[in-house]
Amino acid sequence: MKVLAILYKGGDAATAEPRLLGTVENEAGASIAQGIIGCLMFPQLGLRQYLESLGHEYIVSDSKEGPDSDFQRHIVDAEVLITTPFHPGYLTADLFEKANNLKLCVTAGVGSDHIDLNCAVEKHVQVMEVSGSNVVSVAEHVVMSILLLARNFVPAHEMIERGDWQVSEIARNAFDLEGKVVGTIGAGRIGYRVLQRLVPFDCKDLLYYDYYPLLEDTAKAVNARRVENLEEFVSQCDIITVNCPLHEGTRGLINAGLLRHFKKGAYLVNTARGAICNKEDVAAALKSGHLNGKCSYAGDVWDVQPAPKDHILRTTKNSLGGGNGMVPHYSGTTLDAQARYAKGVRSILENYFTGEPQDPQNIIVGLGKYESTSYGQR
Ligand code: NAI
Repeated sequence: MKVLAILYKGGDAATAEPRLLGTVENEAGASIAQGIIGCLMFPQLGLRQYLESLGHEYIVSDSKEGPDSDFQRHIVDAEVLITTPFHPGYLTADLFEKANNLKLCVTAGVGSDHIDLNCAVEKHVQVMEVSGSNVVSVAEHVVMSILLLARNFVPAHEMIERGDWQVSEIARNAFDLEGKVVGTIGAGRIGYRVLQRLVPFDCKDLLYYDYYPLLEDTAKAVNARRVENLEEFVSQCDIITVNCPLHEGTRGLINAGLLRHFKKGAYLVNTARGAICNKEDVAAALKSGHLNGKCSYAGDVWDVQPAPKDHILRTTKNSLGGGNGMVPHYSGTTLDAQARYAKGVRSILENYFTGEPQDPQNIIVGLGKYESTSYGQR
């Protein structure tokens, strides 16, 4: 059978650092080899060696756009597709029509919105993630982003690089996190871990908006309060962090209409998926001053990845010349996370080939139905 992996080019970094498992050079899976070398001391367990020893064909490429891409050429007869959310091969409805042999999509990481999940349901193609593999990595990045926005860190560092020194320029827009209201849209694995990590900062209130309430004890452990109406939720928050998957119910959720309900000067951190926020509306709010005053928008996810060079959120700043903490999509792909998701991919493949049951938490789409409740209420 053919196993197709769409990974990203790692260049010199990947050659020098074998633990960059999501790269073509380290063949993520075979890269998985390296990961497992690192963590479990089984150098022979490379994905390429593993797959080829079972007689499977293993194709690895970063070429994913257009009809001549390796992705589109090989998807027609691949049985298993491995992708990462960091350099997503977008498996659209059109491509599903051509993918006649496809039975399993494995996301090396968390977040499978690059696969048309409704089509997967229709076509009886299973979709698995390595749930939990990088949630701590993202939660840490969220806390860092909240702090760098609140402390006006990016302009401060840029000032130092320029050779300038004007403390008041930075301090006029630097605040403490203590005493602020922070809310998460989505209180699943990442959202909850963000709340946990914020507890010692003595925020005024920790809020969450999710269609499922946390268990009473779980909410109590972090002293989090649920707000059921989204407009009311955002209007109470000084800082909003987005931690829900991208699906029909969250695409464009943060748009001009909702932004009007944000507090003036609010901060928005989005490490979930770029398309949850309308980029033009966020940029306009930032420029107009609605998200202004303090910094404003940070995160690592973009509506198209890689983000085009002229993407509006690469450069938009607030009226004080700050307010942008955007980085490439890497919060969930620290070397620690890569080792975990590489191991998880291997385990999903082993279960698939041997017919062992999959870990239920990894199944997003099972045979003909959604198994996860996180991708919208159905
Ligand atoms: P999870 O499945 O544990 O939690 C998601 C939560 O969002 C669930 O509690 C669900 O009920 C809630 N939710 C879904 N739709 C909602 C809506 N319309 N409004 C409010 N809440 C809603 O998922 P996890 O592990 O916390 O990951 C969340 C997302 O974070 C992933 O789907 C992915 O898009 C993103 N992510 C980003 C990474 C990065 O590197 N930037 C890495 C890992 C995940």
